[in-house]
Amino acid sequence: MKNHLIFKNYFFILLFPILFSACLTNVEEDISDDDGFLPCETITYALSVKPIIDNNCVQCHGLGGNFPNLTSYNGISANASIVKAEVTSRRMPQGSSITNDEINAISCWVDNGALNN
Ligand code: HEC
Repeated sequence: MKNHLIFKNYFFILLFPILFSACLTNVEEDISDDDGFLPCETITYALSVKPIIDNNCVQCHGLGGNFPNLTSYNGISANASIVKAEVTSRRMPQGSSITNDEINAISCWVDNGALNN
């Protein structure tokens, strides 16, 4: 009887780490198995927003192009709220489109204060 109880305790001690590591693994999979959308807090100007603007906006919003000039952080951040409004309404980019993830990334970044991060 005593031996049986000791076995039972070891069984639970061994079981807990297995259950916990299973949970942790699933959480990581949930974050990464969508089509690339990063959680809002992880969106940065340098890694997310600038590449989207460079690839989809500066051909029309470059120096001497349409207002606003979107070639620099200052130009983008000074117009952050209209940039967000234009992309969330899908009025911009004119003549083409960006993905929902890209729209969300710009939106998040503006909502977080349009930081130079
Ligand atoms: C093919 C050219 C073209 C592309 C690409 C383009 N735009 Fe524009 N954009 C324009 C033109 C032309 C205007 C001014 C006339 C208008 O509003 O339609 C404009 C106006 C704007 C405005 C000003 C709106 C206002 O209220 O005055 C913003 C902000 C803007 N664009 C953001 C963007 C962003 C962000 C992108 C990229 C995701 C983008 N645009 C891509 C041509 C473009």
